[in-house]
Amino acid sequence: MVIMEGKGRLDGVDLRELVSTVPTPFYAYSASAIRHRVGALQTALGGMNARICYAVKANGNLAVLRLMAGLGIGADIVSAGEMHRALHAGIPAGNIVFSGVGKTADEMAQALAAGVWRFNIESRDELHTLQTVAAEQDVVALAAVRINPDVDAGTHAKISTGKAENKFGVTMDEARDWFSQSDAFPNVRLDGLHVHIGSQILTLQPFRLAMQQVAAFAAQLAASGHPINSIDVGGGLGVRYRHGHDVPVCVNEYAAMLRATFADFDGTIVLEPGRYLVAEAGVLITRVVRIKAGASREFLVVDAAMNDLQRPALYDAWHEIIPLHDRGGGDVRYDVVGPVCETGDTFAVQRSMPRCQAGDLLLIANAGAYGASMSSNYNSRPLTAELMLDRGRHAVVRRRQSFEEMVAGESLAAEWLTA
Ligand code: LLP
Repeated sequence: MVIMEGKGRLDGVDLRELVSTVPTPFYAYSASAIRHRVGALQTALGGMNARICYAVKANGNLAVLRLMAGLGIGADIVSAGEMHRALHAGIPAGNIVFSGVGKTADEMAQALAAGVWRFNIESRDELHTLQTVAAEQDVVALAAVRINPDVDAGTHAKISTGKAENKFGVTMDEARDWFSQSDAFPNVRLDGLHVHIGSQILTLQPFRLAMQQVAAFAAQLAASGHPINSIDVGGGLGVRYRHGHDVPVCVNEYAAMLRATFADFDGTIVLEPGRYLVAEAGVLITRVVRIKAGASREFLVVDAAMNDLQRPALYDAWHEIIPLHDRGGGDVRYDVVGPVCETGDTFAVQRSMPRCQAGDLLLIANAGAYGASMSSNYNSRPLTAELMLDRGRHAVVRRRQSFEEMVAGESLAAEWLTA
């Protein structure tokens, strides 16, 4: 945690006081921590021709996006929904890149009409579709080809994206064909390369291997008459979820690697970090509903669940869990579980932590990325509230969903549906 001043305080706010007005569970984000991370990355990239386009999927809360906009950060989007969020929060269309393997023609049309900066293209079919859509609007779309470098990022299989068997990107041979056939795509200007090999990457080497391939390929393309104006190096920088286990890549070393690898490239380097900018800035605050003595272990049943924070259920991810009350006595082992009716609804197994009581508050750390943005209404649980904290001030930047909001859009079909 970057801006955690002692137990229970985040960015100058006492989290225990918040619960008197905001029911648990809720997410809280530290604006100072986000600024700190943005600043560290911007400083590391100092002097480079680089643009940071924040990966909205990590945390698309409008207040987070507005903070990014104010810091001069663009957006990396993967859907029309993310585009509308980014635009609504004040990120200029000209600072938005559109990634993703399944963009529909309709989404491309919306993005072109809005004037997004560029598209990262991942298949021939997508290239054809972009050509058609751009021709219909009589515009020329700027595009980069996403390369699959077949590099093992050494991360969880579900978030590894740069191996040949993954659905992402194309081979350099295929990309070369597209460049040589670019006359067939008069409404698409292919002038960029893109690579993203995975997320929560903790070593520099896979990044370096992927970037070296892309840098060499850009030079080859330029030599054969296809100048490359931008290279998008994706996101992927890991963070420390578990002390003593995760050792993140130092951002200065990452930037130095980019500088060295792309020393001969004179276009723009685009970065799409998500997790690095927001993960450690966020916490999920939950309350112990009860303690249940199981046959062989004690369960700490909390009021947050896998629908609020999916990462432990989906990736067996480790999140630090810190009780905000001091009960004294030694540590005990708990399985920390939510109320959802699945065994996977487990935040921690046999976790050694201070003894708790029903009603106690727990802080689940490093939940600012891929927390609220991946939440769902499973078990008809309302979407959790989100708060922004900043140097002693706080605001509810998303209130907890009401029942009416949860069912808005559903219909009983009572006019014709009979039993
Ligand atoms: N660019 C592209 C094309 C991506 O697919 C992603 C993430 C990013 C950038 C941002 O990556 P980051 O800097 O955050 O590592 N839900 C998973 C992570 C999925 C990442 C998907 N793509 C988790 O909770 O670990």
